[in-house]
Amino acid sequence: MSKNSAMQIDTGVSLKPYNTFGLPAVAGQLVRIVSDADVRAILDHPQLGRAPKFVLGGGSNVILTRDMPELVLKIEVKGLQKVAETADAVIVEAGAGESWHDLVAWTLDQGWPGLENMALIPGTVGAAPVQNIGAYGMELQDRFESLDTVDLVTGRTVTMRADQCQFSYRDSVFKRELAGRSVITRVRFRLPRPWQPVLGYLDLERRMAETGNRQPDARTVFDWVCAIRRAKLPDPALIGNVGSFFKNPIVTPEQCRDIIARDPHVVHYPLDDGSFKLAAGWLIDACGWKGKTVGHAGVYEKQALVLVNRGGAIGSEVQTLALAIQESVYGRFGIRLEIEPVMV
Ligand code: EPU
Repeated sequence: MSKNSAMQIDTGVSLKPYNTFGLPAVAGQLVRIVSDADVRAILDHPQLGRAPKFVLGGGSNVILTRDMPELVLKIEVKGLQKVAETADAVIVEAGAGESWHDLVAWTLDQGWPGLENMALIPGTVGAAPVQNIGAYGMELQDRFESLDTVDLVTGRTVTMRADQCQFSYRDSVFKRELAGRSVITRVRFRLPRPWQPVLGYLDLERRMAETGNRQPDARTVFDWVCAIRRAKLPDPALIGNVGSFFKNPIVTPEQCRDIIARDPHVVHYPLDDGSFKLAAGWLIDACGWKGKTVGHAGVYEKQALVLVNRGGAIGSEVQTLALAIQESVYGRFGIRLEIEPVMV
């Protein structure tokens, strides 16, 4: 690896430590971004200004299938602070390069609960709005206030509110129209007061029943969520993965009835608009994939929705496995599973 001291441009950088699946890929050029001004400096650079760019956060939602000829912008903007406090909410701001879980833990330590259901989600703060992360009955959009982005054409910092981000289930404008067009540098969260627990998810109801604690405080919900996740999701520090590999598919009532008629046990949840969400993990499990291995990639033993690196996997093996799963779920249930992480 060589370094250009003026601009801190690293060349020939292995991205293996920077993606949680642990896939091998090399960035031709990589720049660490710690401020909005750093983005503008890149845009003003005579050679790099117009180069194609790829924005890398915590690498927890990306499958790298090739080396990166693009200029990789590794987002390392830091900072955690309270920016406002009103009778009905505390507003906190976090740099895009902060660890998501550290933010959740820090807000609890400060006495500002509200993010605890999303504890232990891997990745960075800046990546969280891109896929509108969610877990245990809560989504990022439920606690979102605003975010700052730097436009990769104009270099301007723009503040965006929730409606402009177009959040939906594991999706936002940053995965679509704004993909590759802007860099998220800071995100602000609204933590409502008084705190109200969110306990509707089945796994949390189970904990309440088991412990007899029907009025858990925020710290207890945090501990429960951490324990539930540790029991069924692999720790990316130990086993490479990107969390859920497919979205839970949404089907019409007719499709849902049809599948129930054939498989009465299919896990399904009614949605407000009359459609149904099916548990993709259940569908994949029903096709016999749990614990299977193809090449060096596999399906996690405790949760079929999670693909894992068995050691030494390459991106194309993950793609092959994902395709095989999609084909078998389509063959048996007539449902096309949509891949959740960004494939590069
Ligand atoms: N199931 C099976 N077999 C499996 C996996 C799941 O039968 O191998 C069944 C479970 O028994 C359960 C149902 O499927 O009845 C749903 O499973 P679970 O509660 O584990 O949730 P999920 O739908 O698999 C979603 C999110 C997770 C999030 C959990 C908890 C998506 C794509 N995934 O998983 O998010 O942590 O709910 O809220 O929506 C992520 O996005 O990376 C992620 C981990």
